[in-house]
Amino acid sequence: MGEMMRQSLVVGNWKMNGTLASAESLVKGIIAGLGSNTAEIAVCVPYVYISGVSELVKGSRLALGAQNIADKASGAYTGEISAAMLSEFGCKYALVGHSERRTYYGDTNESVAARFAQAIAQGIIPVLCVGETLEQREQDQTIAVVNEQLDAVINLTGIAAFDKAVIAYEPVWAIGTGRTASDEQAQEVHQHIRQYIAVKDAVIAEKIQILYGGSAKPDNAKGLFAMPDIDGGLIGGASLEAESFLKIYHSV
Ligand code: 13P
Repeated sequence: MGEMMRQSLVVGNWKMNGTLASAESLVKGIIAGLGSNTAEIAVCVPYVYISGVSELVKGSRLALGAQNIADKASGAYTGEISAAMLSEFGCKYALVGHSERRTYYGDTNESVAARFAQAIAQGIIPVLCVGETLEQREQDQTIAVVNEQLDAVINLTGIAAFDKAVIAYEPVWAIGTGRTASDEQAQEVHQHIRQYIAVKDAVIAEKIQILYGGSAKPDNAKGLFAMPDIDGGLIGGASLEAESFLKIYHSV
C-alpha cells in the first residue's frame, strides 16, 4: 500500500512560450526520449498548439493538456475555451488555478472551483494548483491558504470528484525564481494535503497524485520525487527543452 499504489506523473507547463516550429520539435523530442519508463507524462501547451500537438502525440504515451479551462460550459464568453472543446482534441488534463492565473488574470477560489467542475463534467482531469506566497509562508499561513484553496473546490464538487483529479502544490515563491522548496518543505505540505483529503475520503487520499511545482530542475527532481507524498512534478522552465524535461521525467 502507501505510495506504491500511485502511478508517478510528470507534467510540463509551457506557459506562454514557443512557436509552431519549436512546439513540434519539442513534442517529437520528448516522444523520442520516453524509453521504457512507465510513469505518466503530459505537456500543457498554449491553446493554439493543442490541435497540432494532439496529432503529434497520437500513438505515444505522451498525454496532452491545456493550461486553463473556462468556468462555464458554453455561451457568450468571448475569448474563453470550454472543456468540451478541449475534450474534442483529446486533452487528458487541464491546469486549473495556476498561480499566474490567480495573480494576473483574476482567477478566484470560486472561479477555480467552477473550472475544476467543468473539467470533471467533460472527463478531463483537472490539475488543481495550490500554494502560498512568500508573505503568506512567512506569516505561517501556508496550511490555511492551501486549505482554503482546496475547500473552495471540495465545497462545490464534493470530495468524490477528486477521484479523477490531480493536485499540484506550487509555492508561489518557488515559481520561476530558481528558489525551489527543499524536499522536506515540499513533503510537509504534500503530506498535509493528503491528510486533509483523507479526513474526507481515505481511499481517494491514498490514490490521488500530488505533484510538486516550482523551480523543479534535473538536479533537484530526484530528491523531491523520493519524498513519500510527492508523486511527480509540474515543470515550467525546465519543460521547454526535451533534454531537461526528459531528465526530470526519468528521475521520477
Ligand atoms: P518553473 O518550473 O518555471 O518554476 O514553473 C513552475 C510552474 O509554475 C509550473 O506550473
